[in-house]
Amino acid sequence: MRNIILLGAPGSGKGTQSEHLVKQFGFTHLSTGNIIRDNINQKTPSGLLCQQYSEQGKLVPDDLMIEMVEQHLQTISGDLIWDGFPRTITQAAKLDQLLQKLNSKIDHTLYFEIDERKLFDRIVGRLTCPTCGRTYHRTAFPPKVEWVCDDDQTPLVQRKDDSEEKIKIRLATYQNDTVPLVQYYLNQQVLTVIDADMEGYAVWDQIMAVLK
Ligand code: AP5
Ligand code: MG
Repeated sequence: MRNIILLGAPGSGKGTQSEHLVKQFGFTHLSTGNIIRDNINQKTPSGLLCQQYSEQGKLVPDDLMIEMVEQHLQTISGDLIWDGFPRTITQAAKLDQLLQKLNSKIDHTLYFEIDERKLFDRIVGRLTCPTCGRTYHRTAFPPKVEWVCDDDQTPLVQRKDDSEEKIKIRLATYQNDTVPLVQYYLNQQVLTVIDADMEGYAVWDQIMAVLK
């Protein structure tokens, strides 16, 4: 079991690159943002607890998030892409413990470094498929038919937390709680910096160079 963490700011391209990794190499995608949104849509008890945090751009509390990840792990297998988890030092320490129990480890942490000014355009331009979760961008990665998913023809939507006001909160949360993980994984000698400023498939090429 291989474990690749995608670490980076909101809108830095973690979900987009995860989709490529799943399609090209059959990785299993573990996105805590998707798990949370699925639970909210299905109105599960955990979803109801998460909603107030995630739709405001704040982090879901560590205990709840870790419990949801542990439950989800029991339903999946294979090589994992960790997209959006861990996001705090507490979560990172817990992940180390979990993987140790499974006789596994983190193989790579890909840190998506990006100029903050680019993030607003990327997030505000994002369109998401509510059925399959695929993401598009109005200008950079547009769907073939405007506002319609290429894969399942579902009308595309904008995420509730993709407003300018919520993006500011998400970026501040990222700086405060998640940026310390860069040093954490540097210390573990598993961190590789990916230049996520690049447009289109140039980011994918860098990831290929690391995973080949
Ligand atoms: P989550 O869903 O993980 O959101 P996020 O981290 O804010 O990241 P995004 O999904 O917004 O961005 P992304 O990096 O995936 O970018 P994307 O590929 O879509 O989390 C949502 C919320 O859930 C959190 O705020 C929190 O409340 C909660 N949560 C989640 N995990 C948690 C945890 N561990 N603990 C506690 N709470 C948690 O790309 C963005 C746009 O840019 C797209 O339109 C895309 O098409 C475009 N794009 C991407 N790459 C390029 C490129 N190279 N060139 C041009 N355009 C590009
Ligand atoms: Mg995402």
